[in-house]
Amino acid sequence: MPKIKPALFRPTPANLTRLANQLRRGGIVGVPAETVYGLAANALDATACARIFKAKGRPANDPLIVHLARAADIGNVALTNPAAERLAEAFWPGPLTLVLPKKPCVPDLVTSGRNTVAVRVPAHPVFRRLIKACGFPLAAPSANPFGYISPTCAAHVRDSLGNTELRAILDGGDCTIGVESTILDLSDPAHPRLLRPGGLALEKIESVLQQKVLGPKKSGKLTLGSSAPAPGMLPQHYSPHTPVRLHPALSLKNIQRIPANEAIVLLLRPRQKTLLTPNVFWLSEAGQLASIARNLFGQLRQLDQGAWLKIHVELPTSNEGLAPAIRDRLTRAAAKV
Ligand code: TXA
Ligand code: MG
Repeated sequence: MPKIKPALFRPTPANLTRLANQLRRGGIVGVPAETVYGLAANALDATACARIFKAKGRPANDPLIVHLARAADIGNVALTNPAAERLAEAFWPGPLTLVLPKKPCVPDLVTSGRNTVAVRVPAHPVFRRLIKACGFPLAAPSANPFGYISPTCAAHVRDSLGNTELRAILDGGDCTIGVESTILDLSDPAHPRLLRPGGLALEKIESVLQQKVLGPKKSGKLTLGSSAPAPGMLPQHYSPHTPVRLHPALSLKNIQRIPANEAIVLLLRPRQKTLLTPNVFWLSEAGQLASIARNLFGQLRQLDQGAWLKIHVELPTSNEGLAPAIRDRLTRAAAKV
């Protein structure tokens, strides 16, 4: 059966109006964020949001992030607090999602029946223009089939969500950050907790809060059916079909032992000419974490389409900046359940 592919729309005023109308009628639309592409629907319309879960094959116990055009709208969907307001002031629009007590207007489907809602104001101007044109908030998870690598350009969405109900993708170019937002649980403002490392470094959050942030709760074994403290944070996620092997550091000797039909992804361009073989790839010129994050998902996706038997990836070891987010995504990509 030929694959039905959704169409790409450039962010012209006419297209924004057209896509906002589709969303108003309960449709789903692929949208660009600075982090990864999202699959959006009217966050206040449960029937529309059900289409997101269906298109992604996402389990109902994995709640969605609600996206707002401006921080001032937060009170429409969540109960805010002074810590949340300080963070919003410092980092919105940007790659920070706050989990706060929800307002009744947010459907249970969006929050998977929780009494909290995840909210953020995305930095991508095209995404915010679309939310403004809609006049309602947009729920959007990453626009990948559940468990697969997140999309960082419109073509990724088109290629992996074909043959679903999705018909339209707003093309806002390549994502500038390349990993998802950092999720912070502020439902108990005295005890902020990191639920997912992401595009905003934890140390920046701690410096604004002037407080240490707790790590994710250890919840034993997370399974698809369970309701975990950080739902969606399954050990396996973001996974290519090709097996991924991680290496804290790849020495020249280690690399040369890897067979030619297995791909090797280094963090930076190798200096030794002997390493410039067709199975060696790199994520940055000189180890800049921002480039590594930006290129990570696209590189994994591209290699997954090749005939490689395995993908070996070098892991960043630092605890600063985007390194924990990159390590988190790679660890889940490599996990086998
Ligand atoms: O950068 C991003 O955050 C992207 C773009 C599109 O904004 N979105 C994204 O959504 O990564 P998604 O659905 O792939 O990841 C959202 C995560 C899930 O792990 C979900 O379980 C968690 O947020 N989440 C949502 N609502 C929550 C809540 N009320 N409490 C705890 N976790 C929540
Ligand atoms: Mg996701």
